[in-house]
Amino acid sequence: MVLMPSRIVICFILICFLTRGDARSRKPNIVIFLTDDQDVLLGSMDVMKHTRERFIKKGATFNNAFTTSPICCPSRSSFLTGCLYSHNHNVLTNNDNCSSIAWQVKHESRSFATYLNKTGYTTAYFGKYLNEYNGSYVPQGWDNWVGLIRNSRYYNYTLRVNSVKESHRNSYEKDYFTDLIVNRSMEYFQERKNVDPDTPILSILSFPAPHGSEDGAPQYQHLYANVTSHITPSFDYGPNLDKHWIISRIKVPMDETQHRFSATLQQKRLQTLRSVDDAVDRFVTMLEDTGELNNTYLLYTSDHGFHIGQFGLAKGKSMPYDFDIRVPLFMRGPGIEEGMSVNEIVLNIDMAPTILGIAGVDVPDWMDGRNFMPIVKRHAELTVKFYNQDIIIQYWNGSDSTLWPPQQCLSQQRRRKCICTPTQKSESRCYCTNSNNNTYWCVRIINATSNLLYCEFITGFVEYYDLNTDPYQRSNTYLELDTHVHNSLNAEL
Ligand SMILES: *[C@@H]1O[C@H](CO)[C@@H](O)[C@H](O)[C@H]1NC(C)=O
Ligand SMILES: *[C@@H]1O[C@H](CO)[C@@H](O)[C@H](O)[C@H]1NC(C)=O
Ligand SMILES: *[C@@H]1O[C@H](CO)[C@@H](O)[C@H](O)[C@H]1NC(C)=O
Ligand SMILES: *[C@@H]1O[C@H](CO)[C@@H](O)[C@H](O)[C@H]1NC(C)=O
Ligand SMILES: *[C@@H]1O[C@H](CO)[C@@H](O)[C@H](O)[C@H]1NC(C)=O
Ligand SMILES: *[C@@H]1O[C@H](CO)[C@@H](O)[C@H](O)[C@H]1NC(C)=O
Ligand SMILES: *[C@@H]1O[C@H](CO)[C@@H](O)[C@H](O)[C@H]1NC(C)=O
Ligand SMILES: *[C@@H]1O[C@H](CO)[C@@H](O)[C@H](O)[C@H]1NC(C)=O
Ligand SMILES: *[C@@H]1O[C@H](CO)[C@@H](O)[C@H](O)[C@H]1NC(C)=O
Ligand SMILES: *[C@@H]1O[C@H](CO)[C@@H](O)[C@H](O)[C@H]1NC(C)=O
Repeated sequence: MVLMPSRIVICFILICFLTRGDARSRKPNIVIFLTDDQDVLLGSMDVMKHTRERFIKKGATFNNAFTTSPICCPSRSSFLTGCLYSHNHNVLTNNDNCSSIAWQVKHESRSFATYLNKTGYTTAYFGKYLNEYNGSYVPQGWDNWVGLIRNSRYYNYTLRVNSVKESHRNSYEKDYFTDLIVNRSMEYFQERKNVDPDTPILSILSFPAPHGSEDGAPQYQHLYANVTSHITPSFDYGPNLDKHWIISRIKVPMDETQHRFSATLQQKRLQTLRSVDDAVDRFVTMLEDTGELNNTYLLYTSDHGFHIGQFGLAKGKSMPYDFDIRVPLFMRGPGIEEGMSVNEIVLNIDMAPTILGIAGVDVPDWMDGRNFMPIVKRHAELTVKFYNQDIIIQYWNGSDSTLWPPQQCLSQQRRRKCICTPTQKSESRCYCTNSNNNTYWCVRIINATSNLLYCEFITGFVEYYDLNTDPYQRSNTYLELDTHVHNSLNAEL
């Protein structure tokens, strides 16, 4: 009888000691900065000084980060569900099934947010979601929701803010979307930590930049005149009669107007990224000030890459080449070595499993991606096993196989994602990336000896590049490929 109270006291002291004293036993916060259409090969990181300081210098840089489908909605759907290659989540294009009821029921209900909610995280989303998201509901798993209705914008947009809709006009101070995302996410983080310092937070900051309409903040609009960083070795390169039909029919060299268009586009994109760079700096500073930085994992990435004038393509994504499929990816957090450089391939579908891994949740079998924490924590044996060497890249225009004439391109711009050069809106200089025969499956291999891309189009057309000898994918050498190698690559698809 006399012993009981003292046992309770001892237990109590022990519990207090364990929960209060050992900060390391608290689950870490996870913060993800996601940009829209940001290249990694056209020099976009050059202008992001704070991000280089805060991420590259302080953490890991992934030199071989790829998206499995170089187009917004399929890539974002893969990112959220953790995982699934497009053919498993049924979001093949920016139109069909993007934020559809089928997606909501079957896939959105098991996004990484739903898993983290179940394991005690506070989850918060700020910014662009899926292109067709119309604000009629709040996606499952998110405790705090600030989601953009439809596609990227900087001004004149509507948000779904938890249960209400909120409209924004065009005042820089009140409405500039990049700034609003970081302001709201910082306020939310600080408020939650004040109320409940021990609950870990997952925050996604999903920026519109550098997607069109490329509206830079007023203080950055004088920068980067006559920029040339987009002029890579494949810029304006051609003729490209050895490439698939979209590219082979583009006329190069580009004319003066097109050159000016490219430079202006690059200039405007870089201006928009300066505000993202400020957002990174402000958020990380806030984490320092609140004492949470040492218990937070931060990731920075984009949904896919981008091209501006490469092979004469005016602008866009949807191509299987490195400029469209490679993405920036940086990570920092407890236990990750400063200035670390990672050569293993990692994919957008690896993000969700990695987030689950950080949160201490078992990665479910149905996820296609893998937790890449063992790589950054340098668990040597695991690294070898993890190493993705062969990855699959896919692009779909949709499921219908009817042929349609190119003239229809212009009459159905939005749905077909037609890109027309600014000079002539004639058929010969206008192409649609969502046309019936722009559907392809590729295998991209990077290992100690090989660095290659092999693609089969739905039309039967094949492309092959050996990046060891042709790093800019200028010559399709499929015809020189030996049958044995061809068969083994074909078998991977
Ligand atoms: C949309 O998704 C559903 C199942 O999730 C699938 O049955 C359907 O074929 C998809 N539609 C298209 C056009 O891909
Ligand atoms: C919004 O999207 C949902 C599917 O998420 C759809 O059922 C609804 O009809 C759409 N509403 C409008 C106004 O487009
Ligand atoms: C989080 O999970 C709890 C318990 O499973 C559930 O009641 C709640 O609705 C979930 N919250 C969100 C935002 O999904
Ligand atoms: C926003 O809307 C206002 C009023 O309609 C318009 O004047 C302005 O040009 C728009 N701004 C942008 C960036 O779309
Ligand atoms: C964001 O916060 C800054 C600093 O408080 C403020 O100057 C700016 O006007 C805010 N912008 C938006 C769009 O909320
Ligand atoms: C950009 O190029 C134009 C035309 O060549 C030139 O007039 C202008 O001074 C240049 N601007 C800068 C900032 O270099
Ligand atoms: C993080 O830093 C704070 C002070 O800035 C310290 O109290 C805490 O123990 C540190 N936590 C970890 C996990 O190192
Ligand atoms: C692909 O489709 C376009 C537009 O319908 C057509 O002009 C072109 O000939 C097609 N190419 C092949 C190889 O089928
Ligand atoms: C894919 O191409 C087919 C045939 O032209 C067309 O009917 C379908 O709408 C296209 N899908 C998308 C998503 O554009
Ligand atoms: C690299 O990949 C190629 C093509 O799949 C394969 O033939 C080769 O054995 C691989 N090399 C190494 C070192 O794994």
